[in-house]
Amino acid sequence: MDNRPIGFFDSGLGGLTAVPYLMQALPKERIVYFGDTARTPYGSKAVQTIRSFSYQITDFLASKDVKMIVVPCNTVSSTCLEDLRARHPQIPILGIISPAARYVAENCTPENKVGIIGTKVTIASGAYYKKILKFNPRLDIYGTPCPAFVPLIEEGIIQNEIMDLTIQYYLDHFIGYNRIDTLVLGCTHYPLIRRNITKLYPDLTIVDPSEQVLTSIMDTLSATESFAEEPQGEHIFYASDLSENFLNMINRIFQSSEFAIAFKNLELEGLK
Ligand code: DGL
Repeated sequence: MDNRPIGFFDSGLGGLTAVPYLMQALPKERIVYFGDTARTPYGSKAVQTIRSFSYQITDFLASKDVKMIVVPCNTVSSTCLEDLRARHPQIPILGIISPAARYVAENCTPENKVGIIGTKVTIASGAYYKKILKFNPRLDIYGTPCPAFVPLIEEGIIQNEIMDLTIQYYLDHFIGYNRIDTLVLGCTHYPLIRRNITKLYPDLTIVDPSEQVLTSIMDTLSATESFAEEPQGEHIFYASDLSENFLNMINRIFQSSEFAIAFKNLELEGLK
């Protein structure tokens, strides 16, 4: 038993899409979330920059005495997870690529054509490609970056034709030419346009890695016998810039879900 909170770290607000899964499955756990909204997006930055930002934030979460750090950010997970683990060897640090890759490897066959979409950095890293093939070398994997999705989502341009046209711009040829039937949303923002993608390509099977990371959290809590025993007070959401977009996104993600009440009293603090 361990009543300390679970740390979450994302380059911005996208990682919030992973939070409801945890709150629903493990209501006794308390979350300390950090979104680096002042410096997002990470997805087109140099790896050294991403690494140094990630060091600062994991140091900050470690100072909050978290029992585990979850990094739903695909860009960070695909580039510097091992560096973060080496810096904080006493804290389990979970990324998002491995659990999602394992899920794809176990649920797809050589007949499937698997597409990965993500930021430029995530796709260039080849992290999904390598991990999936490590678990199942017989699969056919393709990847393409979709850099315009994140800024549009952050501006709330979602349920309209600009977003639909942007999706078609990136995916029509990618899906058609490669005959993709399974699409991995390899960026924390993309679950917010899942409905648009499903509407445009209704036959696709969509994999949301935010769902798979929950399995890995549960496995780690179980292996270390560190589930919380009592509900532990408020979740805390830190942001390096408390922008209007961040607050709007919190509303967008949580008002449509059963967690609206839990979030009315959330405590937001800027990182000093
Ligand atoms: N959170 C990032 C990811 O999952 C996307 C946003 C960014 O580029 O910072 O890759």
